Amino acid sequence: MTIVSIAHAISPAVLNSIQRLDFSLSEWQRNPRIGNLLGKTVLSGGKRLRPLMTFMMADLLGVPHATIEPFSRYIELVHASTLAHDDVIDNAEYRRGEPSINIVASNKQAVLAGDYLLAYVLQEIAQTGRNDLVSEMAAIIADLAEGEWLQIENSVKRDLTRADVERVALKKTGSVLRWSCAAPALLAYPNGYLLPEARRLGEAIGIAFQMTDDILDFKRRDGSEGADIKNRVINAVIFEALCLTHDREQLDMTRIDSIEPEPRTLDLAIERVRQRVDHLVGEANTLLEMLSEATESRRGQKDPQSLAALKVLVNYLAQRI
Ligand code: IPE
Ligand code: MG
Repeated sequence: MTIVSIAHAISPAVLNSIQRLDFSLSEWQRNPRIGNLLGKTVLSGGKRLRPLMTFMMADLLGVPHATIEPFSRYIELVHASTLAHDDVIDNAEYRRGEPSINIVASNKQAVLAGDYLLAYVLQEIAQTGRNDLVSEMAAIIADLAEGEWLQIENSVKRDLTRADVERVALKKTGSVLRWSCAAPALLAYPNGYLLPEARRLGEAIGIAFQMTDDILDFKRRDGSEGADIKNRVINAVIFEALCLTHDREQLDMTRIDSIEPEPRTLDLAIERVRQRVDHLVGEANTLLEMLSEATESRRGQKDPQSLAALKVLVNYLAQRI
């Protein structure tokens, strides 16, 4: 388990379920060479955050671990595919301190391996016969591609706003965490009860997590810092810094050369982003309470531990510095 600092707050049953998830694809009956590449790059290490949240939400909504387990694994595989694609888009050299997939293999192989993994996941979900879950995942995959697309457009947009920047965070990170909440909701209530609230919960947590990552892009010292500046990605912190520098709330990116902020401006920009993160954490906590109460009144049973553990997780994700 890699989220060491909050492991004490997570139930032993969840920790056990996470540990048992199998991500070794080198014995894949499919193409073991693709599985092998994925296994030694994007599927190696990692916090396993998305499966963790999926199991914790299953606890909150009363779904057995045996039922949620494959769906918990699928979202880590989709996450891994986005890392493969992201490392190509960002021209990365390292991921988690090791050479990234585009370096270990090539850009072409990284893209193909990521695509292959996405198709595998959709096929596996389709085999359960749950069309609603296939649709839910397909929408996430579409959001992921669109998020990266919008990110490229944003870097040259003539009227870039805060909403445009947040939309990228929603599509590229919020969408994946949406699954961690929506899949347990769909398994608990196939008629769609609590689904909109569960979806929004995942999105709010995901946007907060992405914005925290945007802050970390300026603070990490592991070789991966500064990637957004290098790639002219207008993340939340860079956007706020540019607004402060140019004294505008809407930016014409075609007229801005340097996106590198001054240190003092950077501090102010980070403060603004942190305020937005705090707001999203508040929204997530309210939704968690609501989902917990609704489940309690349906099942006539209280589960304060799951709720408390999820609150610790949300807090951790929004301030993992
Ligand atoms: C990294 O995600 C990319 C973001 C969406 C911020 P994680 O920080 O969860 O990456 P790993 O899987 O633990 O390496
Ligand atoms: Mg990136």
